[in-house]
Amino acid sequence: MKFRPIEWSRDHTALRNLDASFVSDRVYAVRRTTMAVSLIEKVCSPPLTERYEMALTKKAVATAAFTVVAHENTALAGFAAVRQLTGNRRAVITDFFVAPRFRRRGLGTKMMKQLCRHVAATNARVLWVETQNINFPAITFYRSLGFEICGFDTTLYDAPLAAEAAVFLSKPIIRKQAG
Ligand SMILES: CC(C)(COP(=O)(O)OP(=O)(O)OC[C@H]1O[C@@H](n2cnc3c(N)ncnc32)[C@H](O)[C@@H]1OP(=O)(O)O)[C@@H](O)C(=O)NCCC(=O)NCCS
Repeated sequence: MKFRPIEWSRDHTALRNLDASFVSDRVYAVRRTTMAVSLIEKVCSPPLTERYEMALTKKAVATAAFTVVAHENTALAGFAAVRQLTGNRRAVITDFFVAPRFRRRGLGTKMMKQLCRHVAATNARVLWVETQNINFPAITFYRSLGFEICGFDTTLYDAPLAAEAAVFLSKPIIRKQAG
């Protein structure tokens, strides 16, 4: 597996064609009380299949703080992009995808290590990502890498996603002390 920054002219067709669907046999149902919102793990039978629209644009790639493409020979195996928000020193993962046949082989973990290395070399204090309550694989993935849930939004999405809740996760950037 090889890694390099995204090159729009070379990669855009493969990026747009990457299968960004996921299958989940569990979801996090949102439970509300007056002052709390909780995510409750629920079995989903039959498993649900959802697909992200590939919304990456040439402009987004050009203005990203960091991008990575993983490829095996000519096959695009995954890609990720991070945007740096200057005001509050938060780095935002805008895209994170591994092609289905490369999943559960540690590729996402390797790509995340690259993002973290890049972000640690900036002044960012936190790495942040948005996913959905129905994306159990992604929530498990991010949590396995030290992300913690830092918020929800049950009103963020318009149709056709209106029934889904946005789930935000974050991971503090820990830098090694010099000396
Ligand atoms: C989420 C995603 C990026 C994970 O990539 P990956 O290369 O499969 O991840 P890894 O192999 O590094 O997995 C690391 C850990 O994450 C967790 N994990 C990954 N996929 C999982 C799944 N389908 N179900 C449960 N846990 C999962 C596991 O703890 C796994 O460790 P293990 O394999 O030793 O059990 C990939 O499934 C994907 O691209 N999904 C579709 C697009 C998507 O949802 N992107 C995120 C948008 S916010």
